[in-house]
Formats: sequence, C-alpha cells, structure tokens
Amino acid sequence: MAMPVRAGRSRIHHREAVERELKVIQPSAVVGCVGVGGTPSATWHNLHETEVMQGNLIGPLVLADVCHEQRLHCLVLGSGVVHSETRRPSDEVAPLSPVPSAYGRIRAQLEAVLSPYLRRHVLLLRFMYPVSADGDGGCLLSKLASATRIHDTPSSLTILPDLLPWARVLLGKRVTGVLNFVNPGLVSPRLIVHEVLHRPSVPVVSKDESTAACWLAVDRLQSICDTSLPDCKSSLLALAGAVKAPASPVQ
Ligand SMILES: NC(=O)c1ccc[n+]([C@@H]2O[C@H](COP(=O)([O-])OP(=O)(O)OC[C@H]3O[C@@H](n4cnc5c(N)ncnc54)[C@H](OP(=O)(O)O)[C@@H]3O)[C@@H](O)[C@H]2O)c1
Repeated sequence: MAMPVRAGRSRIHHREAVERELKVIQPSAVVGCVGVGGTPSATWHNLHETEVMQGNLIGPLVLADVCHEQRLHCLVLGSGVVHSETRRPSDEVAPLSPVPSAYGRIRAQLEAVLSPYLRRHVLLLRFMYPVSADGDGGCLLSKLASATRIHDTPSSLTILPDLLPWARVLLGKRVTGVLNFVNPGLVSPRLIVHEVLHRPSVPVVSKDESTAACWLAVDRLQSICDTSLPDCKSSLLALAGAVKAPASPVQ
C-alpha cells in the first residue's frame, strides 16, 4: 500500500520551524534526508564547515530531539565515512575511524551526539557512494562518468534500487540504532570506470588520504531484513545496461 509522504520545508537546524512544521503535518514517522554532501571535494567541506555543521550535525540533532519530544520515530540518512578501514569489514560497534576531513570529523561527531536518541527512537543509516543509475548528478556512476583519473581502492557501495525498499521496511519495524546501509562486497572506482562505464584509458593513481573508501559489514542489515542482499559488483554489472547518461555534466 502506498505510504503518503510530505516533504518538509524548514531549514533543519531551525528548531522552532521544525517543531511547528511537525505539529502541523502530524506524521507517523520522520525521515531526515537533507545534508551537505553533494559538493565533491574535501577542500570545499573544509572551507564551508559552518554549513556542514548545520546540515550534517546540528540539523539531525535538532530533528532527533524534536521527534523525541513529539514521540515520533525518526530515520536519519547519513554517510558511512565514519570508517576508513578497507582491509576488513567494520560493523556498527567498531571504533570510528573517519576520513581526515571536516566532513568525516563532523559525521563521526554526529554519531556521538545522537547516541542517547539512537537507543530510543532514531535509526541512522550509513550510506556509501549511492548508485541510482538514473542519471542523477549524485549517483556515483554520474560522478565517475567525467573522472579524468581514478584510484583502485575498493569500497562498499549503496545500490539504491536494491536497498531503498528496505528503508521502508526498517521504518515499519521501528528499528533503532546505527545500521550500515550498503550491499555486500566491494567495488573500486577503477572497476566502475574501466569495466562498467567502458573508459579503459582513464589512468589509475594512488588514493588521496581524504578520499573516502571503507568496507562496511552487512550482517546486522541482512539479519534484520532476513534476506541475502545482492553483491554490489554483480548488482552494478546488472545495472550497467540500464545506466542513463548524467542529467548535466558533473564537476
Ligand atoms: N551523495 C553522496 O555521495 C552521499 C553519500 C553518503 C551519504 N550522503 C549523505 O546524504 C545526505 C544528502 O546528501 P545528497 O548527496 O542528497 O546532497 P544534495 O544532493 O546536496 O541534497 C542535499 C539537500 O539537503 C538540503 N539541505 C542542506 N542543508 C540543509 C539544512 N540545513 N536545512 C534544510 N535542508 C538542507 C539541500 O537543500 P538546499 O539546497 O536548499 O540547501 C538539498 O535539498 C547528506 O547528509 C550526505 O552526507 C551523501
């Protein structure tokens, strides 16, 4: 059955506006999917720390607290850059090792400040490099379509057509805490550019230390969903035929 959805209009860090809006809408649950993430470089985030704080730390905290007061379940979409370990999978209780950037540091701070809420009514999903294959500029395939050099360090990915339907199930089950929200397995940008986007001439370089890559464990996600999720490499290759060109050139 279709679930009615209303998009909020408040700036997420403006507490009174968020309170007022939720009182008017009276939702059964709240999904926080705003944030500052689209601009593609660590340097940009380092130069715009205040906006990153408002969208990625203060905003989700305000939302969690207002939902606590209004007794609403809350799902927050966030990044998986709280880990930078690529040799073994990091589960949801592993000590955080964020990428060395303002974005990574602020993202790790979010998990710390949200912890009392995560035990009660908030679910925080960790996304890595979302793939929609619909030409959206935020999709990893769109971002890599214009890459002029790539690294070969594999990372977890969130293949949205595979995983988004489960976000609704998690909301229905009122799951709380932190949850790695990625497919099993790992894929590197080199594999995507050379084998999925068929641009084998793009040169491979060493990964910059502030570029995110991590291996997130999916055991908790698969156990809650009671399913085996598709491996990200096979899922990507299956999507490859349906990949649309980016809507506009991606910087
Ligand atoms: N894209 C990725 O690769 C990726 C990967 C993992 C996780 N994430 C996370 O997903 C979230 C969204 O990323 P995205 O890629 O979808 O970003 P996006 O395409 O830039 O969209 C972000 C949206 O959030 C809104 N927003 C930002 N700050 C806000 C604030 N303080 N109050 C209200 N709205 C605000 C923006 O609205 P305005 O334009 O009006 O500011 C925009 O509509 C971020 O938390 C990001 O860290 C993204």
